[in-house]
Amino acid sequence: MERQEVAYTYELERTLSMLRSGGILLAATKPSGASNVMTIGWGTVGIIWGRPIFVVMVRPSRHTYGFMEETGAFTVNVPTPELRAWTSFCGTKSGRDVDKFAALGMATSPAQKVRGVTIDACPLVYECKVVHHNDVIPPHLAPEIVSGSYPQGDFHRIYFGEILGTYASK
Ligand SMILES: Cc1cc2nc3c(=O)[nH]c(=O)nc-3n(C[C@H](O)[C@H](O)[C@H](O)COP(=O)(O)O)c2cc1C
Repeated sequence: MERQEVAYTYELERTLSMLRSGGILLAATKPSGASNVMTIGWGTVGIIWGRPIFVVMVRPSRHTYGFMEETGAFTVNVPTPELRAWTSFCGTKSGRDVDKFAALGMATSPAQKVRGVTIDACPLVYECKVVHHNDVIPPHLAPEIVSGSYPQGDFHRIYFGEILGTYASK
């Protein structure tokens, strides 16, 4: 899909709405060149340290976690509602067991500003460099969220990705 660079605020409402309903696709690539993709439903976009930041949350149990740790960069790919089958698959299958790109016939292209790939069929993508991470600290979190979202522990690591490029289909 041919895309052009746009402001990080372009169609932001669409990104937030897709996060809420069905999820969007987070991809990361190791220095070895191997990539993985998973669905995320939690995240936010805003300004921190005077920079546009995409905040994403990845549980340590995810295969993607190792990729995030090794690479220091990620892309966020916003699919169309028609690609719900992809977010469903990538949100329930692990890259430990299956090459999700191959299984879905998901074509990718090299990202332009970070090491990584973007998903061709997604009309809106963000390329992000990790500038900070921290972990959810259970005693600092409202008890109802701890019991509701973390019955098994596996507390998220929160990655703050500076948005170096946002690209939208023409
Ligand atoms: C709609 C939806 C949203 C999700 N959001 C997140 C998320 O924000 N963070 C997370 O760690 N897992 C999230 N998941 C779960 C992962 O996508 C899922 O565990 C996936 O299989 C992990 O793949 P991996 O093991 O290849 O990394 C979500 C799943 C779905 C279906």
